Amino acid sequence: MTYNGKRILLGVSGGIAAYKAAELARRLVAAGAKVKVVMTKAAQEFVTPMTFQALTGEKVAAAMFGPGSEPLEHVALGQATDAIVLAPATANLLGKMAAGIGDDLLTTILLAATKPILVCPAMNCEMWVHPAVQENVARLQARGLTVLPPAAGELACGATGYGRLPEPETILEALAKLVSHQDLAGRRVLVTAGPTHEDLDPVRFLTNRSSGKQGYALAKVAWRRGAQVCLVSGPTLLPAPHGVERVDIWSAREMLDAVLARFPESEALLMAAAVGDYHPTSRSEHKMKRGSQELTVHLTQNPDILKKVATLKKKQVVVGFAAETRDLEVAARQKLEDKGLDLIVANAVNRADSGFAVDTNEVTIIGRRNLVVRLPLLSKEEVAARVLDQVAALLPPREGGGG
Ligand code: CTP
Repeated sequence: MTYNGKRILLGVSGGIAAYKAAELARRLVAAGAKVKVVMTKAAQEFVTPMTFQALTGEKVAAAMFGPGSEPLEHVALGQATDAIVLAPATANLLGKMAAGIGDDLLTTILLAATKPILVCPAMNCEMWVHPAVQENVARLQARGLTVLPPAAGELACGATGYGRLPEPETILEALAKLVSHQDLAGRRVLVTAGPTHEDLDPVRFLTNRSSGKQGYALAKVAWRRGAQVCLVSGPTLLPAPHGVERVDIWSAREMLDAVLARFPESEALLMAAAVGDYHPTSRSEHKMKRGSQELTVHLTQNPDILKKVATLKKKQVVVGFAAETRDLEVAARQKLEDKGLDLIVANAVNRADSGFAVDTNEVTIIGRRNLVVRLPLLSKEEVAARVLDQVAALLPPREGGGG
């Protein structure tokens, strides 16, 4: 969705990680972007233009002059695009950019560019920490360019340290922000996700089928749209979304503490977590042994996090999620009232393609003053975008006059 029809200029400079740029180009095309590749002369020593041409379906631009070059391409290419990504950006390219040098097609395009630029440096770890390189990076950041620092790991030269080109997934996420509308710029958004675990003994716990996917999608999309996101997450198998602060919790009571600590400074809370309603009244210190045919476990109710939060609410927009197997809208509206919410996202969880653990969801967003938005089956990221549209509409204007 984010990349559908977006024009991305991919600048490839001459480092060994140039081969990874081919995979990045493929992933961008698969995500719906129209990709134009510009290569430096040195990059062509590592990968041929033909590789990128085959992956993107577009002629690769590589020379200012001579056969195949177009007049004024150096001006047009950096402007007729939605964003520019430089991957890999070598120490040499960073130096030229910082100094304002335009001595080939890519560096000249960058001087004439008017669109957001994501720089993904990749090089030997000693080169990366060299003061000249660090000063150049700082200069580029001060000019408003986004720099995605290299990842740590084993490098092509055999050394281990910071210098690797981040995975395509991470670059795609960082770039997604540069092509997204920043309607949540600077907003502090708190999201909860996943299940909670309620311990019976050191090896057993009560939980539910939540995978965390909807909450993680909300955190991801809110970050792309400019928000500062804190994600309070129950145990899930999902990687932390790029740019998001993740706070890991185990039980409902830990989630309560984490949410209460962060709620006062937040502007919106999206409670997508499937919070366990009960915990075992006592937790056995040692592993429980098999005993008689039947076992009775006593449970005590967990605190209702949203109800507690409602008592502290000032101007925050508070959103609940209602997972129901019947009477969806009636039950959800009841929860909206009982928990003092601004919005509730009602979610049928008795279908194979909607609710827990799948990538799609069919929800109805219900709000105050008869707001009812019934959505078709969508990806969880699309659902997240529609929920955040409603949140953005309810947020009070930013202090200091911003939108
Ligand atoms: N919720 C919460 N604290 C709890 C239980 C739920 O904050 N102890 C939140 C969930 O994160 C969700 C909303 O309340 O945003 C509705 O959760 P749901 O489990 O559907 O509602 P319950 O109030 O637990 O009602 P029931 O399980 O009886 O349907």
